Amino acid sequence: MTTPEVQQAIKPCTILFQLHRTLVEIPSVTLYELEVGQVLEAHLTSRGLTVDRQQVSEDRFNLLAYKGAVNETRVLLVSHIDTDGYQIYGRGSVDDKASVVAQTFAFLELLDTLGEGSVSILFDVGEEAGGAGINYIEANIDYHWDTVIFGEPTELKLGVGHKGVYGGSLKVNGLAAHSGYPELGIDANGILIDILSNLRGIEWPSDELLGNTTLNVGVIEGGAAANVISANSSAQLLFRVTNGIDLIDALVQDAIDRTGHSDRVEFTGTHKLPPVYFDYDVEGFESIVLAYGTDAFGLAKKQIPHKLLYGPGTIHVAHSATEHISTDDLLEAVQGYKSLIKWALEQ
Ligand SMILES: *[C@@H]1O[C@H](CO)[C@@H](O)[C@H](O)[C@H]1NC(C)=O
Ligand SMILES: *[C@@H]1O[C@H](CO)[C@@H](O)[C@H](O)[C@H]1NC(C)=O
Ligand SMILES: *[C@@H]1O[C@H](CO)[C@@H](O)[C@H](O)[C@H]1NC(C)=O
Repeated sequence: MTTPEVQQAIKPCTILFQLHRTLVEIPSVTLYELEVGQVLEAHLTSRGLTVDRQQVSEDRFNLLAYKGAVNETRVLLVSHIDTDGYQIYGRGSVDDKASVVAQTFAFLELLDTLGEGSVSILFDVGEEAGGAGINYIEANIDYHWDTVIFGEPTELKLGVGHKGVYGGSLKVNGLAAHSGYPELGIDANGILIDILSNLRGIEWPSDELLGNTTLNVGVIEGGAAANVISANSSAQLLFRVTNGIDLIDALVQDAIDRTGHSDRVEFTGTHKLPPVYFDYDVEGFESIVLAYGTDAFGLAKKQIPHKLLYGPGTIHVAHSATEHISTDDLLEAVQGYKSLIKWALEQ
């Protein structure tokens, strides 16, 4: 039997599911977020919010929506509107459009009770590849939020923290020779294999809360032909770091030195982002440790007293062809965000 309360609830739910469907149906792989941005802008404007565009580059903008005229608020909700990879049915349904929609509805449902300057919502571009949108905020917007609530799939739990990342590349310069006369060459592939083997034996710094630092060797290249001693080789490394990010260079160097070919090897580290910790002790919420990065990296230099990470869905299906979200989770996330906004306003 459908009670009046349930009927009352059905209409907003329908609008919520419709918005989610609309957003998922619009492809918004990184760099092509324009249309999704326009749809959200129209939706938020139609609900009476002030919406500012932050032009990150031509055809790409973040949206910041707030009540009235005060753009700097105590609490900020953030999620990203780009998705990873190409449009497959459901792509982005979790990461991150479920959070986008749930944050939007939580904000709209609380709107009448909120004063100007209390809450705003930011939808940014480029999170899946380099963080262009959030980096724009870090560089250009000097607001002092008390609390930022990041929306990412956390299975409706509060993220305790997430690992940092450290990427780097190894390059080995060898010397080509006929494979029948290996003593005349310097085998770049062989040296690389030894280094990688040494790396696999290393126990990387770990952290009680965030667990082990892990290393992925995602790309290996090298050599020219089976009958030629390889003249060069390379590997791309990506560490998911829980602790001791500044110790990694020395550990990698040690793995290189142990091959006896340090003079032939170059390790170049890039994007080094330490782990991020969040507030997770909020009544009524379980907590979860996460291994993926978020927009919180981009705001690392800002002093934000409280950071929360929360959202519907699981990262385990995100970025895949089976990405999906349950309607119950979407509805629960709206309630979750409402509770977190209220918690944040009480801090
Ligand atoms: C925020 O509002 C203030 C006051 O109206 C204004 O001076 C400022 O330019 C606005 N900031 C942005 C990023 O639009
Ligand atoms: C973390 O590393 C330790 C030591 O190598 C290992 O025993 C443990 O199983 C690892 N934990 C996880 C969750 O992989
Ligand atoms: C090896 O060197 C050649 C010639 O400079 C270059 O074309 C090739 O991309 C290099 N391969 C690797 C794996 O670095």
